[in-house]
Amino acid sequence: MCGIIGYIGNQEAYPILIKGLHRLEYRGYDSAGVALINPNGQLNIYKNKGKVSQLEESIEGKDVSGNIGIAHTRWATHGEPNNVNAHPHYSNSGTLALIHNGIIENYALLKSGLIEKGCTFHSDTDTEVLVQLIDYIKTSGNHSLFDAVQLALNQVIGAYAIAILDRDDPDRIIIARKSSPLVIGIREEEDEYFFASDASPIVEYTNSVIYLQDNEIAIISRKEPLKVIDLKNVEKTPEVSRLEMSISQLERGDYPHFMLKEIFEQPKTIADCMKGRINTEGTNVVLSGIIDNKARFLSARRIIIVACGTSWHSALIGEHLIENLCRIPVEVEYASEFRYRDPIIYPDDIVIAISQSGETADTLAAIELSKQKGAFIYGICNVVGSSIARATDSGSYIHVGPEIGVASTKAFTGQVTVLAMLAMTLAKEKGTIKPNELTTMIKAFKKIPEQMELLLSANSQIQETAKIFTYARNFIYLGRGYSYPSALEGALKLKEISYIHAEGYPAAEMKHGPIALIDSEMPVIVIATNTKLYEKVLNNIQEVKARSGRVIAVVTEGDEDVRKLADYYIAIPKTMECFGPLLAAIPLQLLAYHIAVYKGKDVDQPRHLAKSVTVE
Ligand code: M6R
Repeated sequence: MCGIIGYIGNQEAYPILIKGLHRLEYRGYDSAGVALINPNGQLNIYKNKGKVSQLEESIEGKDVSGNIGIAHTRWATHGEPNNVNAHPHYSNSGTLALIHNGIIENYALLKSGLIEKGCTFHSDTDTEVLVQLIDYIKTSGNHSLFDAVQLALNQVIGAYAIAILDRDDPDRIIIARKSSPLVIGIREEEDEYFFASDASPIVEYTNSVIYLQDNEIAIISRKEPLKVIDLKNVEKTPEVSRLEMSISQLERGDYPHFMLKEIFEQPKTIADCMKGRINTEGTNVVLSGIIDNKARFLSARRIIIVACGTSWHSALIGEHLIENLCRIPVEVEYASEFRYRDPIIYPDDIVIAISQSGETADTLAAIELSKQKGAFIYGICNVVGSSIARATDSGSYIHVGPEIGVASTKAFTGQVTVLAMLAMTLAKEKGTIKPNELTTMIKAFKKIPEQMELLLSANSQIQETAKIFTYARNFIYLGRGYSYPSALEGALKLKEISYIHAEGYPAAEMKHGPIALIDSEMPVIVIATNTKLYEKVLNNIQEVKARSGRVIAVVTEGDEDVRKLADYYIAIPKTMECFGPLLAAIPLQLLAYHIAVYKGKDVDQPRHLAKSVTVE
């Protein structure tokens, strides 16, 4: 949801900013822009509709000199993607340039007030109100830029991560955040500072970072030490953290797309996620977040899981796992609905928030609401130091490394892996699982990475199947029990990257309506693995076949019955029913990927989407 980056130091800023924008492009890619102050003190702003590469082309031959600058890649909220609405926005005085990630909710009111005072606006964005307001306060009240930013932000309602460049002060950048992330990278020995929406553009320059907190403003200057002051004018001592991220994790390597790389990484990411949590003998599981808060978990009346999108699908699998193994009632909620429906939350409830990015606005809001009602909040995130990771009382990281493809793949399996370990740890502590049953489970669980490896070797078979269905305009995905969330996730993967309409249903719900859609044109993907509902799913397949539907079945290896019935099949290795979604995810991801590639779609950056949804 928009990526922002900035640099101040002794190097040329432009190459750093452009490289950084490419790294941040997954956050939004409908327009991009850059502002630089050149050695003569001139403020140059270039912006362009389209991707970062188009911005680069449009700038060719222009003056991009200067060792201070800010840049932005946009996901439009207010105002269509075009050159004018692209960031940076500039002030009427011509001295300030500003970039923004977030939404200014009271922009209309602020804008009309400024228009009355004679301000002119050039764009349709909410962002422009910020730069004009800061400029107005600065010039009319003769305030310093910092004071003007602080006064302006005290009038603003909404979410923002902003950076402001002042032509009249080429040694300083001011940045601020509220509900949208900002990380500052510090390279003290070189007197250099970097800042960005996440650490990916920073990691190749420094490992020392500061995560700016809500309501904080930082003055980044080449002449004075970094200063952080909040909106109430209290000076803060920022905590310096160390980044644990490698550049190779941020690069595509030989893969044509990040999504394919991330699908193929799963045997390793799942093994990494288990590391230190499953002992080497494979006899014990310890998720420290549960053990550290054992009393709280053991006395939980109920667990509510809040999440969005793919993370919501993994939450549904978590519901099965926790209820089955721990016998604690679980409710799964879309964070966006939960936050607005005045939910009943008891102080002895535990709210688990799942988020890959750790920045999803609705999930963050659901956490705040649950906190106010006294619940204990547990986070399951991927991005270390993210807003959700910091807003929760405790939690577990999924440790799958940066996920760049907009369609979530390895984060989904990482989330399910953590949820499985959470359920096993809690069941052991609660005594709701017998020691021998736990040992059997852990043994099956430990085999998942090597089974994933095996599955990935079926890539070309899945690719062939994908080719056959590239023409399809609709897809239905069916599953039951643990496989129902897999069906939902498979359908989401397909629609978001291939733009084919796809729906996931619980297989038995078919006859209550959706079965009317079945004809010889309708591909139906059925997850028909060896589960306790296997026979019933077999009947559901018969129902589809009786209506001429074309069935692509995901079956357990060695299965003959479904294989005979289905038009196409993909076999997955045998595992316990509760771990089935970890394996079923892979063929469904690959199928969606190959269909999208055959259709010539932009797999890593599908239209209209952004990786982290930091606005509601
Ligand atoms: O970062 P989060 O896990 O909170 O993101 C939630 C959804 O926005 C995300 O899963 C989205 O649905 C993905 N594009 C799905 O592939």
